[in-house]
Amino acid sequence: MDRLDKLLSSTGRWSRREVRQLIKEGRVLVDGAPAAAAEQKLDPALSPVLVDGEALTIRKHTYIMLHKPAGVLSATEDPRQETVLDLLPPELRRRGLFPVGRLDKDSEGLLLLTNDGPLAHRLLSPKRHVDKIYHIRTDRPLTPADAAAFAAGVVLGDGTACLPAKLELLGDGSEALVTLHEGKFHQIKRMIACRGATVCRLKRLAMGTLVLDDRLAAGEFRPLTGEEVSKIGGIT
Ligand code: URA
Repeated sequence: MDRLDKLLSSTGRWSRREVRQLIKEGRVLVDGAPAAAAEQKLDPALSPVLVDGEALTIRKHTYIMLHKPAGVLSATEDPRQETVLDLLPPELRRRGLFPVGRLDKDSEGLLLLTNDGPLAHRLLSPKRHVDKIYHIRTDRPLTPADAAAFAAGVVLGDGTACLPAKLELLGDGSEALVTLHEGKFHQIKRMIACRGATVCRLKRLAMGTLVLDDRLAAGEFRPLTGEEVSKIGGIT
């Protein structure tokens, strides 16, 4: 049995304050009757909950899509710097969420936050080769020779060999899409540096089947839809 306000806010759609308001306005039905109080206890497996007529899916785990802004750390906590968890309301921060993989502090874009450890493990496993797509801007136009080098597999300055990657030039080549099948530290910046150029801006657009929602401004987040969760292999 869980408290109604906890269950509703755990979906990531409403803060506890918003939940209280929804209940006060009679917009939450439990077992077909308007919920009496935020503190009301229920078993979501036995008592259907509707908000504004929509049946609520209460999941075992929480999955949040965040549009990470530049300047924020991909970490759960840091004594001095703002982290991606600081962008979430307290009721979500309490759920033990962590980012699945990292984006550099100055990178932006798609970041999945979850408390589903096995899923994170599967998505990050080198064996699974979950593709990640990035939009980059560079200080000089990239060329078909750079794309060919990416396709052949760049060897980084320290001798680390990268898997073949896709580099699709956009416009005059100062912007491009990069598809990686792995995730080494600062990988794109180091691959581009090997080609004698510098990454000025880096934004992750997709991770496997999960695509950054273009309605999310930098710093905004939303829960994954049921379809997104099942496509990435999450447990609902
Ligand atoms: N490659 C990088 O260099 N940085 C990122 O944040 C992601 C991929």
